[in-house]
Amino acid sequence: MARLSIVSLRKLFVFFLCLSAVLFLLITLQVVVELGQFERTVHILPPRDLHESGWRHRLHGGGLLASERTSPGGPEGQYPYIVWWSPLTGEIGRLGECGTNKCFFTINRTLYSHPSTQAFLFYGTDFNIESLPLPRRAHHQWALFHEESPKNNYKLFHEPVITLFNHTATFSQHSHLPLTSQYLENLEVLTSQTYLVPLNQKNKLRKTLAPVVYVQSDCDPPSDRDAYVSELMKHIKVDSYGQCLHNKDLPSHLRDSIAMEEQAFYQILAQYKFILAFENAVCDDYITEKLWRPLKLGVVPVYYGAPNVRQWLPSNSSAVVVVPDEPPEKLALYLKRLDEDDGEYATYLEWKLKREVSNLELVKELKERPWGVQDPTQENYIDVFECMVCSRVWENIDRQKKGLVPKTWQAEGNHLKCPLPRVFDFASDPRNRTSLRGIWRASYEQSKKEARALRHLAERNKNFTVAQYWKEVFTD
Ligand SMILES: *[C@@H]1O[C@H](CO)[C@@H](O)[C@H](O)[C@H]1NC(C)=O
Ligand SMILES: *[C@@H]1O[C@H](CO)[C@@H](O)[C@H](O)[C@H]1NC(C)=O
Ligand SMILES: *[C@@H]1O[C@H](CO)[C@@H](O)[C@H](O)[C@H]1NC(C)=O
Ligand SMILES: *[C@@H]1O[C@H](CO)[C@@H](O)[C@H](O)[C@H]1NC(C)=O
Ligand SMILES: *[C@@H]1O[C@H](CO)[C@@H](O)[C@H](O)[C@H]1NC(C)=O
Repeated sequence: MARLSIVSLRKLFVFFLCLSAVLFLLITLQVVVELGQFERTVHILPPRDLHESGWRHRLHGGGLLASERTSPGGPEGQYPYIVWWSPLTGEIGRLGECGTNKCFFTINRTLYSHPSTQAFLFYGTDFNIESLPLPRRAHHQWALFHEESPKNNYKLFHEPVITLFNHTATFSQHSHLPLTSQYLENLEVLTSQTYLVPLNQKNKLRKTLAPVVYVQSDCDPPSDRDAYVSELMKHIKVDSYGQCLHNKDLPSHLRDSIAMEEQAFYQILAQYKFILAFENAVCDDYITEKLWRPLKLGVVPVYYGAPNVRQWLPSNSSAVVVVPDEPPEKLALYLKRLDEDDGEYATYLEWKLKREVSNLELVKELKERPWGVQDPTQENYIDVFECMVCSRVWENIDRQKKGLVPKTWQAEGNHLKCPLPRVFDFASDPRNRTSLRGIWRASYEQSKKEARALRHLAERNKNFTVAQYWKEVFTD
């Protein structure tokens, strides 16, 4: 009798475990489906990621380092093997040269147990608990490349997970290979006046155009920007061409052209006095083309995103930085004042007219970063990331040869860190809101539990199944 009831209790427990797992999966699925929809719609507007073509170009052949294609049959242990656990590069095998060091890079996971395998590289967006290179041997270094929006794969953004890695390349300035300026080609595009529309002309254009323009088709992301903008729109005119809060169509020759000509679109944007440059997530150093584009065009960005953005602006008076604790109405009043006062507006474009970037930190960053953006004379950041790991692996091989203690590298919490997403609490018509808006905070909180579970399983250092993982998450 007692045995029976224990068995049925167990069954009951398993049943509830499965039920909660299914529920969670349904929510996750919804997020995934909606994210998928963004991805499809996003390209209606100008190229989202200007940097993309850079490394895609290399990945599909013709790269700087793709000198030698080979399979790992060579003299055993001659080169360390570095396995891309996420098949980002698609390269079955390549002997990469990093200065005087050579490493064999491959996406072939069967090399997991090869004695020459020294490091595993992960791509954040694809980082998947379903299969990890566990057990992790003492000499296995883990390296994370994650340049994308924090809304992709939240669980990496918590200390228990990010600190599993030895090496990082992320948008954070604290990471081992910071990619903070990845959306900015160089200083010249910033100071260029190619698109600049003179202020007297902007003033004339105000007869037909709003002072402010907004272009977004990825609606209701974690930053909750659409709620803010929707409130702002009650107090100042905003022309919105994208799918979010859409109120103005593009000229017919540009409408629904998937491959919309960048130039023509830039010329439209350049006519405005202000561009709402609102990131999809709010984290220090997470800065995208949303900031750089208005600066390139000679339009004043009204920026909401990285709280430390001032560290990256070309001058201390080049953008209006949104203070999220203040009401949008106050911002609207300020923008209206600038709209009416040419002298004051012009102070925001002084740097552009003088072609002068007074932020020496930004100048230094662009000069010293070891990779380029859309620049065939410089390496791309994937190559540089691979080589950073290769060189560190060699550094320890050399130390060991000399009988020295090997060096250790360890990611820190601030290599990938974002606060709990904020939800603005302006009264808004619930019918206008997508189901996605409410999901980010819950998803972030959930990801904390997942991070703790993953940490626990990784420390146990045994291969685990998905079921074991979810059990760990739900018994947190
Ligand atoms: C992966 O590596 C294994 C072991 O060296 C080899 O047998 C296999 O052919 C490789 N797979 C591919 C697709 O090259
Ligand atoms: C871990 O287990 C899964 C099945 O649960 C298997 O597919 C995978 O190959 C294993 N990974 C390693 C590194 O042994
Ligand atoms: C901005 O920088 C200029 C010099 O580049 C300086 O004279 C001015 O005081 C600064 N203004 C503020 C508000 O920091
Ligand atoms: C890599 O990180 C792991 C886990 O923190 C650590 O045990 C190991 O010593 C590190 N290896 C190197 C080479 O830094
Ligand atoms: C919100 O919804 C109302 C009616 O449902 C509509 O009139 C209004 O235009 C919508 N606002 C936005 C910004 O989409």
